[in-house]
Amino acid sequence: MIAARNGRPGRARLAALGAYVPDRVVTNADMERQVDTTDEWIVTRTGIRERRYAAPEQATSDLAVLAAGDVLRSAGLDAADVDLVIVPTCTPDHLFPSVAAMTAHRIGAVNAGAYDLQAACSGFIYGLAQATALVESGLARNALVVGAEVFSKMVDHTDRSTCILFGDAAAGALVTSGDPETTGGFMGFELGADGSQAMELCMPVGGTRHPASRPFAPEEAFLRMNGREVYRFATRVMEESVVRLLTRLEVGIEDVDLLVAHQANQRIIDSAVKRLGIDTSRVFNNLERYGNTSAASIPLALTEARDAGALRPGALVLLVGFGAGLTWASCLVRYEPE
Ligand code: ACO
Repeated sequence: MIAARNGRPGRARLAALGAYVPDRVVTNADMERQVDTTDEWIVTRTGIRERRYAAPEQATSDLAVLAAGDVLRSAGLDAADVDLVIVPTCTPDHLFPSVAAMTAHRIGAVNAGAYDLQAACSGFIYGLAQATALVESGLARNALVVGAEVFSKMVDHTDRSTCILFGDAAAGALVTSGDPETTGGFMGFELGADGSQAMELCMPVGGTRHPASRPFAPEEAFLRMNGREVYRFATRVMEESVVRLLTRLEVGIEDVDLLVAHQANQRIIDSAVKRLGIDTSRVFNNLERYGNTSAASIPLALTEARDAGALRPGALVLLVGFGAGLTWASCLVRYEPE
């Protein structure tokens, strides 16, 4: 059923958050035993101290199911009332079927459409944009957006320049139909992509360009990244995207109560925070405990910000991310839980 008030669908609202992280903690000391690196190098270059790894038998949908359950519990919503399940991920269980379809089935979202969304670390914000559009058009009433990643099975654990960065997690949000007259809810999005730099961050083998059935060098089966190029791109687009968004919405950075950026690298976040001129007391990070969890990083940080009391009802929240594609995304939302 489509929610309507005065004959119109409501404005999309960020109604609930939830997360799941695997039990296994992998510290920088563990990394020191695995590759030629040091805790000091990792902390000063990235800010990461530890990350979580899925168990050998856990795939991405196993994490997504637990995170989706946490969102529904926090919303007090029955899975049968979910119309739509979007799973932003670039580490799916399989190329197909989608993680979203398996997740919807396992949580009992029997009335939901479901699909995956591929925008890498920008995926959660892209997913929120789609959920907002579908809720506000009246096509959906309760949309679950659950970023889920198991990067520990996609990185080369002998490559020190990438394996230290990534961790596994799933986290998400419920987007529901709210009051059509409100000025809150999802206030705006800025999404972008620059495919000219696509191969700077990629998974070379396993798709139709290079099927896994054809011979390949062992290193081509793992994530490949030009860290310096991605770093340059990230520091530029995070600021540009936020400035474009806030300018369009006529909102000053001083009005933002909380900034949650994609948790990839502390230096990238610090650079964006400095350029944007937002006080660090209004920035929430949890990168040091989870590393880069890609599409799960922003909702995981939002969930922890809520639990820590840093995300309060009514807060004006700015989200910004970047990732493979290369893609970027930002979003301004007033947090209005149930
Ligand atoms: N330990 C010790 N030394 C290392 C390590 C390590 N773990 N990794 C690299 N080094 C060495 C390099 O070999 C290099 O040595 P050299 O000078 O002798 O050649 C030196 O450290 C410097 O290497 P750089 O790559 O220049 O290091 P940099 O300061 O740029 O940091 C990093 C590397 C952390 C990867 C950085 O470039 C970065 O964060 N880039 C952005 C990555 C990112 O955010 N990706 C997001 C992807 S999300 C998604 O969409 C999937």
